[in-house]
Amino acid sequence: MKIERALVGLLNNPVVPAVVAHAPDLVEYIDVIPDRLWYDFEFGEAGGRRFRRVTGAIEELKQCAAGRVLGGHCIGLSLPSAIPLDLAMAEEVALLARELEFQWFSEHLSMFLVAHGSVPNAQAGLGLPVAFDEESFEIIRRKLVILKPMLGCRMLMENTAVFTPVPDSDMSEPQFLNRLYSEADCGTLLDLHNLYVGQQNGVLSSRQYLEEINPACVEEIHIAGGDELAGFYTDSHSGLTPPEVWEWAYEFGPRFENLRAIVFEFHESYFEKLGMQGIVEELERMHQLADRLASRTQSRVA
Ligand SMILES: [Fe+2]
Repeated sequence: MKIERALVGLLNNPVVPAVVAHAPDLVEYIDVIPDRLWYDFEFGEAGGRRFRRVTGAIEELKQCAAGRVLGGHCIGLSLPSAIPLDLAMAEEVALLARELEFQWFSEHLSMFLVAHGSVPNAQAGLGLPVAFDEESFEIIRRKLVILKPMLGCRMLMENTAVFTPVPDSDMSEPQFLNRLYSEADCGTLLDLHNLYVGQQNGVLSSRQYLEEINPACVEEIHIAGGDELAGFYTDSHSGLTPPEVWEWAYEFGPRFENLRAIVFEFHESYFEKLGMQGIVEELERMHQLADRLASRTQSRVA
């Protein structure tokens, strides 16, 4: 499928409906986090149901969805974890995917669930890095085989924000993503700000990374801003996109012929700091980027 122009959008959060109402023409796409649309009572509640939906948020999202494209962007499936796929959660995600008509679906190339004491699926509290080796590849590949038909849409995996070197990897992250694309029919959600995080923490060279990844893999881009915590630069989604991230988007973006969407991630707790006008200006810059990438791709095809 040839994509004419990448859609511009936002990661959903409780203030996104207000942004959509304020600037409806600037938001074409919304990345929806299913995990934020339910409460998970994994160990049971009085009614015996595990998932209880946040119905108000879902209804609000359905109103925002009119005339827009939606995709799923999940956190809780924790595909690289060694435990089996959480089928009950996957089914709940699949229900939402059908109801909200997700056009594609992404998960993270990091672990949010880890074994701890007697519990095989303790919440890590943040995304822990994965050793990129054959074992991790097989764990993810097998889960994708189960998950893809349940969701009925294209799957992407997102590169992670890393703060320290990860020992014991046989492949680099781009090599791992290239293999997911060629051997597991799974695209890449390339978070350019996560590359910035790795670079600021001295873990990776973003340019080397961007040279190494197969451009055909990249079907969605995330941009964001972060800040420092305890001597580390973090992916806190607290600010506007840094200039270097924009540079990489303009320099490497024209290679990404399968790019479907460019998404700005901000956390709602920083909405006051960013301001409505700040988010509008970020969206306008993203539209300029999408136009530029579309014109370069078309001129190359011509
Ligand atoms: Fe992201």
